[in-house]
Amino acid sequence: MPTLIFEKQAYQRNPEETVLDCLLRHGVSVPHSCRSGVCQSCLMRSIDSDPPAAAQHGLKDSLRQQRYFLACACAPEGDFTATLSGPVLIRFPARVISVEKLSRRIARVRLDPAGAFDYRAGQFINLARSDGLTRPYSLASLPYTEDFLELHVARHEQGRMSSWIHDELQPGDEIAVSTPIGECCYRPEQPKQPLLLVGTGCGLAPLYGVIRDALHHGHTGPIWLYHGSRDREGLYLVEELRGLARDHDNFNYVPCLDSPAAGDEDVTVQRAHEAALARHADMKGWRVFLCGHPEMVKQTKIKTYLAGAALADIHADPFQSAAP
Ligand SMILES: Cc1cc2nc3c(=O)[nH]c(=O)nc-3n(C[C@H](O)[C@H](O)[C@H](O)COP(=O)(O)OP(=O)(O)OC[C@H]3O[C@@H](n4cnc5c(N)ncnc54)[C@H](O)[C@@H]3O)c2cc1C
Ligand code: FES
Repeated sequence: MPTLIFEKQAYQRNPEETVLDCLLRHGVSVPHSCRSGVCQSCLMRSIDSDPPAAAQHGLKDSLRQQRYFLACACAPEGDFTATLSGPVLIRFPARVISVEKLSRRIARVRLDPAGAFDYRAGQFINLARSDGLTRPYSLASLPYTEDFLELHVARHEQGRMSSWIHDELQPGDEIAVSTPIGECCYRPEQPKQPLLLVGTGCGLAPLYGVIRDALHHGHTGPIWLYHGSRDREGLYLVEELRGLARDHDNFNYVPCLDSPAAGDEDVTVQRAHEAALARHADMKGWRVFLCGHPEMVKQTKIKTYLAGAALADIHADPFQSAAP
């Protein structure tokens, strides 16, 4: 059985078991969330050997060169030595400015990070509570016009972090944030390119940043946003988005509900990705942004690719939750 040495302690690792699973099985508490190589909250560094390529997928070159890897995607062949310590793991303290309910299910959290915080609209950060519980949340704010970080957090019943944010987090509290991660961002090089954005629930958060970034850069191509939810509680910022659509001829906003109630006549009654694919059958030349429910993201990625969008032009952030 291979040996895993973590912070100078030895653990027996089952063959093919990941570093994260091995540590959790031995009762070692390490930061993690999605357990599927998306959120980067389980970032570690190898001490003595190169990690498997699959464990470095999605990491910046500078991190790869320093042998950083994702513990949830790392099943090395033999013995392996890993550590949590390293300069990139420094987390920044951030002060909570406000926690505001946008609906019963969605909270808007604004944070003031200590010191300069460079990011691009649409990236995500890992939020870490003082007991180590860590979860990724997308940035809805714009770095150059807003002097706060804005997150949209959906409450999940029994959700440890989301319930705590909704019920207990207060203005003035301090919380740790990671450096920004991800590539779900607007690229200003092609201002005429049509943009399709599909989000469910708080999948709107990064898209809200991307759209405002595109409009700020004077994007002239058509921009279509389809925001979907199972009910009205998950459709939020409706008036703000309708206002943006009124102010910008090239921005189209399509709020979608799976099952509308009385008073919901002003929305499309269809799943957001189905409404998008029905209207835009030919996606050749489009740039696509997909955020939110993992299955929606996966299916729509395949379908927009089959409809002609280039894989390099499809940006997907599945909001993978922590496995039980
Ligand atoms: C890249 C990325 C970006 C993300 N951005 C956002 C964001 O901007 N806003 C946001 O609200 N969330 C976002 N998430 C999801 C977020 O990180 C957490 O997974 C979510 O808040 C639930 O965490 P929790 O601790 O409250 O629930 P947990 O304690 O981890 O889970 C408790 C229970 O709730 C269930 N559960 C958790 N999440 C979901 C879900 N999405 N759907 C159905 N059941 C669920 C779990 O299966 C579990 O049974 C993002 C995830 C990723 C990977
Ligand atoms: S990338 Fe490993 S827990 Fe999310």
